[in-house]
Amino acid sequence: MDGSDLVLWKIVFLGVFIMGCYGHHSTQRESKKLSCYECNSLFDPRCGLEFDNYTIALVDCSQKPRPRHLPNHFVPSVCRKSIQRVQGKIRVVRGCGYIEDHMHDDGSCFLKTGTHDVQITHCSCTHSACNKGHNSLNQLQTSAIPLTHIVPDPKYALDGEEALCTKVHLNFPLIFKYSYKLQQHVVFPAFVNMVINPNYSNPSKYGLHGARNIYIESDENVRLGVWHILPENLSHATTYDNKYFDQALNNGNHIIIYSHGNSASRTAPNRVALYKILRKYFHVLAFDYRGYGDSTNVPPTESGVVRDCVSLYEWVANRTTSKIFVWGHSLGTAISTHALSILSTRNIKPYGLILESPFTNLRDEISEYPLSRIFRFLPWFQFTIIEPMHQNNFIFATDRHILNVDCSILILHAEDDVIVPFELGYKLYEEAFQYRQPDQGTVEFIGFSRTFGYGHKRIFLVPQLPRIIENFINRAIEEAENRDTF
Ligand SMILES: *[C@@H]1O[C@H](CO)[C@@H](O)[C@H](O)[C@H]1NC(C)=O
Ligand SMILES: *[C@@H]1O[C@H](CO)[C@@H](O)[C@H](O)[C@H]1NC(C)=O
Ligand SMILES: *[C@@H]1O[C@H](CO)[C@@H](O)[C@H](O)[C@H]1NC(C)=O
Ligand SMILES: *[C@@H]1O[C@H](CO)[C@@H](O)[C@H](O)[C@H]1NC(C)=O
Repeated sequence: MDGSDLVLWKIVFLGVFIMGCYGHHSTQRESKKLSCYECNSLFDPRCGLEFDNYTIALVDCSQKPRPRHLPNHFVPSVCRKSIQRVQGKIRVVRGCGYIEDHMHDDGSCFLKTGTHDVQITHCSCTHSACNKGHNSLNQLQTSAIPLTHIVPDPKYALDGEEALCTKVHLNFPLIFKYSYKLQQHVVFPAFVNMVINPNYSNPSKYGLHGARNIYIESDENVRLGVWHILPENLSHATTYDNKYFDQALNNGNHIIIYSHGNSASRTAPNRVALYKILRKYFHVLAFDYRGYGDSTNVPPTESGVVRDCVSLYEWVANRTTSKIFVWGHSLGTAISTHALSILSTRNIKPYGLILESPFTNLRDEISEYPLSRIFRFLPWFQFTIIEPMHQNNFIFATDRHILNVDCSILILHAEDDVIVPFELGYKLYEEAFQYRQPDQGTVEFIGFSRTFGYGHKRIFLVPQLPRIIENFINRAIEEAENRDTF
């Protein structure tokens, strides 16, 4: 593809993307939905007697995969809470319910089974968010969900990430089928860079003081641009040199490697805003994959970008004994999970993995992606869009790789995500929860109600995010230490 082709494609992609995304926003789903708290105190103490209404996932029941054994005409209609007392230990399970029971749906509770060492009390109620609260009987009453309605700052408004919108708007599916290059540009629209005149060598231009810009080797002849952002409490020194940064990396502060989504670069404003939160707890290492930012401009492939992530992890691991965490966003969730599954075959494991807006695999993402629903029924859809990408190794099977990742995992997803549907993040959680071995570490899912407006890339605005991160760090370290004592 020469330069003028590229310009043409940029115009096609951006044009289509603007139309596509604009069109989508006017088609809001209807609002009468039941949302319930969903959690299990066995895995998350905040679900228990001292219910914490801020950080527990409130899920939209209609978006949840329906239990397989239920006939189709059942729709989620109640929120449930069950309190199980098993040999003196109390476990609380909350979630959506499908079967109404008019005797009890007023929010009252009843004892369902009782033997001397197992007691189960069921409570159900019919209003959103009603299955919270303490567990004394008759305490389930409805009240409003705390709403802090967020008006998106235009600075963080839809940008190139949303360019994935384009993928099904192409009117020439056959060109798509036969053009590897075109598929590559759909998956990796690296040219979508909304930051004008980025200056990669100057992180302080982005408000990141106490950060250095470095380059590391990935494959032969592939060089990656990386920002090393010091933890906040080390960022006030008067002079920094490379030696200061190198020593700091091994000073015991935790480290997090950030794998971004499929557009723009490490300088994107929503990413920078997240680094500023992360640096309260971590050294942040934010990098650009090959073909992105100022990294070597070779065409990205799945195996290539995964190697980039592996290389950065090794680079860090070779320079520190501090605890390493990994954060992925969007396509970066697939890249980082795949990278960790490769590293685990060499018995290299991080302490924790945080997946922001993940999907199960690219095939699901393309067929679930809201805009593609319009096209999905067409006979050529599978043949011209999905299969060719699969054959060309655009697979991104996070649902498979997550089973090989040996560390605690946290999944964050907003219900109103129009790029990666909430269902896909939740499905990934369910599969990981079901199929991972207990000694691999727990998986936690936190969903954010659509009323907050976080969408695909504004989870950094969640007011409780620092607390969520802090809790996760503590849980992950505790689990890792328990694992090591076996
Ligand atoms: C959530 O918990 C906080 C703190 O306990 C409380 O102030 C608030 O009213 C609760 N909100 C709801 C909807 O229960
Ligand atoms: C980028 O920042 C560096 C370091 O502050 C500076 O020397 C350089 O002139 C800047 N480049 C541009 C194009 O502004
Ligand atoms: C910086 O903060 C981290 C935790 O937030 C702490 O572990 C570390 O000791 C602090 N470092 C310094 C130099 O204060
Ligand atoms: C890290 O160290 C390992 C050996 O411990 C070596 O094989 C690898 O090349 C090193 N990687 C980097 C990126 O320095």
